[in-house]
Amino acid sequence: MSDFGAQSTTDEVLAGKDMSGMTVFITGGNSGLGLETGRAMSAKGAHVVLAGRDQSKLDEAVAAIRAEHPNGELETIICDLGSLESVRKCGADAAERFDKIDLLINNAGVMACPQSMTADGFETQFGTNHLGHFLLTKQLIPLIEKGAARRIVNLSSRGHHFAPVDFADPNFETRSYDPWVAYGQSKTANILFTVGLEQRFAGGGVHAYAVHPGGIQTNLGRHMTEAQSAALIERVSKSDPDFAWKTIPQGAATQCWAATAEKLEGTGGVYCEDCHVAEISDQSPKSGVRSYALDKSNADKLWSLSEELVGESFAA
Ligand SMILES: NC(=O)c1ccc[n+]([C@@H]2O[C@H](COP(=O)([O-])OP(=O)(O)OC[C@H]3O[C@@H](n4cnc5c(N)ncnc54)[C@H](OP(=O)(O)O)[C@@H]3O)[C@@H](O)[C@H]2O)c1
Repeated sequence: MSDFGAQSTTDEVLAGKDMSGMTVFITGGNSGLGLETGRAMSAKGAHVVLAGRDQSKLDEAVAAIRAEHPNGELETIICDLGSLESVRKCGADAAERFDKIDLLINNAGVMACPQSMTADGFETQFGTNHLGHFLLTKQLIPLIEKGAARRIVNLSSRGHHFAPVDFADPNFETRSYDPWVAYGQSKTANILFTVGLEQRFAGGGVHAYAVHPGGIQTNLGRHMTEAQSAALIERVSKSDPDFAWKTIPQGAATQCWAATAEKLEGTGGVYCEDCHVAEISDQSPKSGVRSYALDKSNADKLWSLSEELVGESFAA
């Protein structure tokens, strides 16, 4: 299925590609995998828009990419995914500033934070990782439909194995909060959203891909105590004795692959890991995608719930 694998890097996956003339919009573009994706695509000539919630961090990210590629076509845009108002403002700003978006990389994320709520009262991980991206994608879809590549990549995680979406209580109002169940739920939502996008927009040539990047040491672990980190590493090593951390360029390779691979042309609604489309597995702790995360009726339920929660319909 793919010439690339777990050790492939962004530069290897994008080798030989000319991305000039393409506009790439990356959420969480100031850090970790988003920044690396921006760097690698800028090196291939793409017009890269780094989205984030903190202008000074975005400026630092642009400076870091420019240090390597002084002529990179880079822009920044403010988008706090934990605020529907900020997401709507970002959508309006993008509509004014850009003619089209070829690739939308919904990469930003927060993991295993203490129980808290977004500005609109959603549990922080479900609200930021899923609902913020749901509304942002709705805002940006008219620009994506004007693009040539028309791909949307949603960063999920193998953490989706931890939990399906609880449609009755997505915000932990009646069940007790567990940071990993909340992360797992949000990352399952990223895959179901991918399925929902594919169902609605593939007919118009827009395709969506969910990605597990691997295990990479980035700022994502910022909410974990040392004890929680150690427990996570022990859990991962037990379930996958071959587990190895990826470098950031290896970690960002799968999203670059999903965004550009010719082999994926005309298909979507799939979950990718290690630069290939993963198999469905309801058992393996080491790899694969759970069937509940690809289930079309779950995808429809999540779509309706998300429309209700953000207060807007999102139709093709
Ligand atoms: N690293 C891994 O091992 C791993 C494994 C599986 C999946 N993933 C997924 O990969 C994606 C990228 O993670 P990473 O490892 O690169 O982590 P990272 O270095 O922590 O980057 C996360 C990015 O998301 C942004 N973000 C968080 N909350 C936001 C909000 N409310 N509004 C806008 N932006 C927000 C952060 O911005 P600030 O700097 O302003 O906080 C940062 O730019 C995430 O979706 C994560 O779930 C990562």
